[in-house]
Amino acid sequence: MKDDPKAAASRLSESMKQDFAREVAKYPPDQRQSAVMACLAIVQKEFGYVSQESEIAVADYLGMPPIAVHEVTTFYNMYNQQPVGKFKLNVCTNLPCQLRDGERALDHLCKRLHVEEGGTTADGLFTVQKSECLGACADAPVMLVNDRQMVSFMSNDRVDALIDTLATAAQPTK
Ligand code: FES
Repeated sequence: MKDDPKAAASRLSESMKQDFAREVAKYPPDQRQSAVMACLAIVQKEFGYVSQESEIAVADYLGMPPIAVHEVTTFYNMYNQQPVGKFKLNVCTNLPCQLRDGERALDHLCKRLHVEEGGTTADGLFTVQKSECLGACADAPVMLVNDRQMVSFMSNDRVDALIDTLATAAQPTK
């Protein structure tokens, strides 16, 4: 019988369980739930996103209700609740960025990539999402690439240059 991909994407491998145990060991034994964010990050690193099945697996492991894990996953937009493209682009549209054309940057990005906000390009390269304040308001409008790299002052030209650079980086090397 063929494996259900969602079930496969929730199975905790031995090495993931070892990583979980390492995180849990940082807290007193009666506070293992404090490792929930770290465990979800481990799941996302392994599978690319946190499925509902994975939330249940984490909840089981930590001895907490699945809804409490789900509240964490949905509170922080660095956790992907579904598969995303190779490059996840989060455009800040909170007020300071909004006042400096954050919405325009988002609109330009969506048009350039032919996706709706929240969508992923057909080639699986880019996912475009809105985000809450990224803590770099002085550089508005800003964008975060793959939850790690902040890019500032996103004019249309800079958005275009970023897309070109990332698309080139994704090309297989000859
Ligand atoms: S409002 Fe965009 S970084 Fe703060």
